[in-house]
Amino acid sequence: MSDTNLKVVLQARAVSKRFHDGLLDVRVLQEVNLSLGRGESLAIVGASGSGKSTLLHILGGLDHASQGEVQLMGHSLPSLTPSQIGLLRNMHLGFVYQFHHLLPELNAWENVAMPLWIRRESSQSSQAQARQLLTQLGLSQRLAHRPSELSGGERQRVAIARALVTKPACLLADEPTGNLDRQTAKEVFELMLSMSKSIQTSFIVVTHDPELAALCDSVMHLKDGHLSGLSNGH
Ligand SMILES: Nc1ncnc2c1ncn2[C@@H]1O[C@H](COP(=O)(O)OP(=O)(O)O)[C@@H](O)[C@H]1O
Ligand SMILES: [Mg+2]
Repeated sequence: MSDTNLKVVLQARAVSKRFHDGLLDVRVLQEVNLSLGRGESLAIVGASGSGKSTLLHILGGLDHASQGEVQLMGHSLPSLTPSQIGLLRNMHLGFVYQFHHLLPELNAWENVAMPLWIRRESSQSSQAQARQLLTQLGLSQRLAHRPSELSGGERQRVAIARALVTKPACLLADEPTGNLDRQTAKEVFELMLSMSKSIQTSFIVVTHDPELAALCDSVMHLKDGHLSGLSNGH
């Protein structure tokens, strides 16, 4: 099977998740279905505690569903070993979180080059790709700055560059702009969308902000464990 010809990048079929915590039995997700095509963007909105992060973890192979199936690039995650899931994740997924998780002792381009170094790409090529991507994200004047020398919005743009530098099939972003002021959040969100369009990376983003969600191709709402579609005029 050729991964590059797949139209559906990520799919969830009847995914349920329960947490057993002492006497408590918490049903967080109930028969959640979704399907994400190549280059598509999907926003997931929902109240705090509704299970958005849990869903992203399961979609990204960082946690297991209690029932149901996730398919990433046509591979059924429940049938794979943890190390196979790890390989698939490294090859096809990028992650962005509310807090940037950049390495403080590395500068901006070094943080972005890190995933390429891990893949044993040459240091010259890694540096060139990192610098080019940061320049596209408007950070050409910040390449050698460390995270502590950057603003919140600049740090998130570096984190986005780090997640996209390997050109993953899909980016999973958990409230990536939740820590930024409104104007900066909008700018960063729009940059993330346009970058993912230009490299045909699909994109699932969790956000509290309906205005930002509406910038995506589709919006789904998570409530009482159920994920349902909201029409977005597309
Ligand atoms: N590891 C865990 N063990 C027990 N309960 C959990 C665990 N992780 C999340 N939960 C519970 O699942 C629910 C959804 O959490 P979460 O996915 O973080 O929500 P959101 O990201 O939408 O704010 C919450 O009630 C939370 O307490
Ligand atoms: Mg969360």
